[in-house]
Amino acid sequence: SWTPASFVEEKVEELSQLVGDDHVLMALSGGVDSTVAATLLHKAIGNRLHCFFVDNGLLRKNEFQEVLDSYKGMGLNIEGVDARQRFWDALAGESSPETKRKIIGRLFIEIFEEESEAHPEVSWLGQGTIYPDVIESVSVHGPSVTIKSHHNVGGLPEKLKLKIVEPLRMLFKDEVRRVGKEMGVPNHILSRHPFPGPGLGIRILGSITPEKVAMLQEADAIYINNLRKFGLYDEVWQAGTILLPVQSVGVMGDERTYEQTVALRAVNSLDGMTAEWSQLPYDFLATVSSEIINNVKGINRVVYDISTKPPATIEWE
Ligand code: XMP
Repeated sequence: SWTPASFVEEKVEELSQLVGDDHVLMALSGGVDSTVAATLLHKAIGNRLHCFFVDNGLLRKNEFQEVLDSYKGMGLNIEGVDARQRFWDALAGESSPETKRKIIGRLFIEIFEEESEAHPEVSWLGQGTIYPDVIESVSVHGPSVTIKSHHNVGGLPEKLKLKIVEPLRMLFKDEVRRVGKEMGVPNHILSRHPFPGPGLGIRILGSITPEKVAMLQEADAIYINNLRKFGLYDEVWQAGTILLPVQSVGVMGDERTYEQTVALRAVNSLDGMTAEWSQLPYDFLATVSSEIINNVKGINRVVYDISTKPPATIEWE
C-alpha cells in the first residue's frame, strides 16, 4: 500500500536513475508543491539541483528573507534573486489586471532565461506540478492567463531545450504534504495558504507603486499574524488583504482624513474552484481593523469581503 516513506524511497531512486549525472534548474516559490518537489530532487542528486527564488517586489512582508532562510536551513542549493526594481519599473503606471499579469509573467520568464544562461551545465527543468494540475486543462482565468505559477514558464522548456522532471505528477495535495512531512519539510511551509504567482500585484487594484506594496505588506502582516494568534489560520483555506483604489473621508482628532481602504478576504474551499467566505468572529475582525487603521499610515477604513465564488473570484483581479 502507498505510504509517504515508500514513495520517497522509490521516487528518489527513480529520479537518480532518470537524471543520472545531469544538472536540474528549478524556480521555487516558497509554496508546498515546489518545495516538496525540490526536496525530493535534492535527495536524489544533491547540489546538482540548482534552485532560485525571485523577489518580484510583490511578496508579503519579510517573505523573501524568511523563505530563503528556510530553504538554506533545509540544505537546498538556493540562490535569491532580488528583482524588485525590475518588476516595479515594468509595472509602473499599468492598471489593467490582464496586462499586469502578463508583465509579471514575462519578466519571470526573462529571469528564468538568465538563470539558465548562468547555469550552462543544466539540461533539466524541475517543476512542482501535481496531479490536479495535470488534469485541469482549462484555466479559470480564460485562455490567456494561467493560474498556477509553474505554468507561468509555459513555452520555456522547448525554447531552452530543457527536459522536464515533475516528481509530484501523480500526487494529490494531501499526499504532497505527507511526503513533505516525511522528509522533514518545515510545517510552516506545508501548511501555508495558497499565494498567487503575481502576488500582491493582483491585490493592489489599479497601478502598483513600491509605496502601495509597503502599505499592503503591513496590513497583510497584521491580518495574517492575527489569524495565527486567534488560532484561525488553519481554519481558512486562503486569506489576504486587498488595497482598494478609492479614498474615503475619515476623522482623526479634529482633522478630517481622506485615505485608502483595505478589504480583508478569507475563504473556505477544497480546490479554489468554488469558495465560501469564512465566517470569522467579530472580535477577531475588530482587532484586525483597529490594528490596521492605527498602524498603517494611509488607511482609514477596513471592510470584510462577504462574497462567494462564483460569481466573485477569490482574488479581486
Ligand atoms: P480566483 O481568484 O480565480 O483564484 O478565484 C483561485 C486560486 O488561484 C489563485 N490565483 C493565481 N495563482 N497565478 C497563480 O499562481 C495567478 O495569476 C492566479 N490568480 C489566482 C488564487 O490565489 C486562488 O488560490
